[in-house]
Amino acid sequence: MKYVCVVVLLVTLQLAFADENENERSCRSWLVQSIPTDMPHLHRVPGVLSSGDVLRWIAGNSSTKLDIIAQYWELLAQPHNPKSGDYGYSAPDLERFGAPLGNALFKSLNNAADRNVSTRIVQHSGVSPDYDEESARLAAGRHNVKNTTLLLGEWWGSGIVHAKVWISDEKDIYIGSANNDWKSLTQVKELGIYIVNCSTIAEKVGIYFDNLWALTSLNSSLYTKTVWDNEWQVRRKVPCWSHFIHYRQRCKSPLPSRVETPGVLGYPPLEYPHMLHVHLDTPGRKNRTRDYSSYLSFSPPELSFYRYQTDEQGWIDTIKSAHFKGTVRISTMDWLGQSQYMKQTVYWPTLSSAISEVVLSKHATVKILVAYWAHFINNTEQYLQSLLYTNVICSSSSDNRCSGKVDIKYYKVPGFNATGPASVKGNVYPGYTRVNHGKYAMSDVRAHIGTSNLVWDYFYTTAGISFGSYDPSIVAQLTHIFDADWDSPYAIPLQPPLNTI
Ligand SMILES: *[C@@H]1O[C@H](CO)[C@@H](O)[C@H](O)[C@H]1NC(C)=O
Ligand SMILES: *[C@@H]1O[C@H](CO)[C@@H](O)[C@H](O)[C@H]1NC(C)=O
Ligand SMILES: *[C@@H]1O[C@H](CO)[C@@H](O)[C@H](O)[C@H]1NC(C)=O
Ligand SMILES: *[C@@H]1O[C@H](CO)[C@@H](O)[C@H](O)[C@H]1NC(C)=O
Ligand SMILES: *[C@@H]1O[C@H](CO)[C@@H](O)[C@H](O)[C@H]1NC(C)=O
Ligand SMILES: *[C@@H]1O[C@H](CO)[C@@H](O)[C@H](O)[C@H]1NC(C)=O
Ligand SMILES: *[C@@H]1O[C@H](CO)[C@@H](O)[C@H](O)[C@H]1NC(C)=O
Ligand SMILES: *[C@@H]1O[C@H](CO)[C@@H](O)[C@H](O)[C@H]1NC(C)=O
Repeated sequence: MKYVCVVVLLVTLQLAFADENENERSCRSWLVQSIPTDMPHLHRVPGVLSSGDVLRWIAGNSSTKLDIIAQYWELLAQPHNPKSGDYGYSAPDLERFGAPLGNALFKSLNNAADRNVSTRIVQHSGVSPDYDEESARLAAGRHNVKNTTLLLGEWWGSGIVHAKVWISDEKDIYIGSANNDWKSLTQVKELGIYIVNCSTIAEKVGIYFDNLWALTSLNSSLYTKTVWDNEWQVRRKVPCWSHFIHYRQRCKSPLPSRVETPGVLGYPPLEYPHMLHVHLDTPGRKNRTRDYSSYLSFSPPELSFYRYQTDEQGWIDTIKSAHFKGTVRISTMDWLGQSQYMKQTVYWPTLSSAISEVVLSKHATVKILVAYWAHFINNTEQYLQSLLYTNVICSSSSDNRCSGKVDIKYYKVPGFNATGPASVKGNVYPGYTRVNHGKYAMSDVRAHIGTSNLVWDYFYTTAGISFGSYDPSIVAQLTHIFDADWDSPYAIPLQPPLNTI
């Protein structure tokens, strides 16, 4: 009972601290999914929209301004390009895979550009299969389309633009896992949110867009420093305004400023991160009955602003929002308790710790769904096993009276082990497909929808963004989406090593 009171109090506090000026009567939101073809045993959750429709509608409705953050572009299939996952597939194959949806989306963007919509694109560019030709095609010969490439490696030593965000007319938004790739519409399992007629949220996401845009016009060598990062115990490059640099040696940030915590290095969690007090209707599930707090979180921390929390805090606070004996659900493509792309390896127990904490102190059940696919990271298994060991610790002393647990499953989209160029025998689907790519989590009271994999780099060197909410209809519908996956035959329990049973 005590625990319930604390949670209620926290939610009330968050409401109290929400900005009173942000009164908007008309925001609406829908959860958005892509479900790969050939998944007959997956239960469909009613009221959820499809990524292909939503992105087409955003472009179709855009009348003045369209801002897009993209990792890469491949809306148009490239069966003749050996670097493409589509290589070697026939026109009928591509039709069956749903490639025409990508064509339709590209056409909608082209039409928006023809309507003189001011379009700005920030993208990463790099090794295949990353492409920037399609955005260049949209920009070619048009004054109203601006395309820029931002290499975060020049700012953080490694990392990429990985957020997937569309903002139209400063009011309609998509945030989620879907890339601007036809495969993200019909061959990769995606999860995102579509927020309509909501200038309050669009404005804040727009500030993040502008931050990325601002970096493209700055000379990174004048604005970066290589320093010893005491928190993560590595030497690394960061922007000169980074809080990982000693206070006196920091430069003045060219971006909107963020909360300073005097005498503290790094980006500690904010006690009262900014909450958005918007009226959010959720017609796909249930119409609004009252208002609930929502929030945005951003990475890397140097790109955050005002009292907005880091993306890492967004995930941690979602885990820690679990009720006593409640349930936390986490779905991710990648999971790793360390860095993936750094020269020096960073050890990153942050998420695992938060999970073990709520299992022991609140007796919470934590369900984690991790994608198993052609590009599965080898040492994921070791980190998941170490997390499962929480169950052994939980029951290690009767004094713990621990009834919480960690439950982990691998998600295998059928055909995951038969992807790649058609020329290789046995391949049935294009490369980089047949994977659960969504990144989201929820407790009993809070839903979190992100763009980042659960690996250190995504939170400290890579551009990512999340939207979260305490709205019970969003929490409930996201829970249904998770449970549909969790209870499907595509989710296979991770077995603990024999000697720990
Ligand atoms: C959109 O929001 C504005 C207020 O911000 C409101 O006046 C208008 O009716 C809304 N439109 C729709 C279609 O909900
Ligand atoms: C505009 O968006 C709405 C849903 O928000 C959709 O029903 C409609 O088809 C879209 N219009 C265009 C031209 O895409
Ligand atoms: C296109 O939009 C810009 C401003 O957004 C405006 O200055 C320009 O006149 C428009 N061009 C046409 C052909 O409508
Ligand atoms: C942007 O588009 C133009 C026109 O097609 C192209 O020349 C240029 O290379 C593109 N820039 C980037 C960064 O992709
Ligand atoms: C960026 O600054 C460095 C160091 O001053 C200089 O060498 C380089 O030419 C500048 N690059 C550009 C594109 O201005
Ligand atoms: C929400 O309200 C709208 C308009 O008032 C209505 O058309 C819609 O059916 C309602 N949705 C649900 C799920 O009750
Ligand atoms: C991962 O495992 C596969 C198969 O055992 C191996 O071929 C590959 O080199 C490994 N990758 C790394 C980065 O260790
Ligand atoms: C692919 O995985 C499925 C299910 O795990 C298995 O039944 C099948 O034999 C595998 N196919 C190949 C080619 O490895």
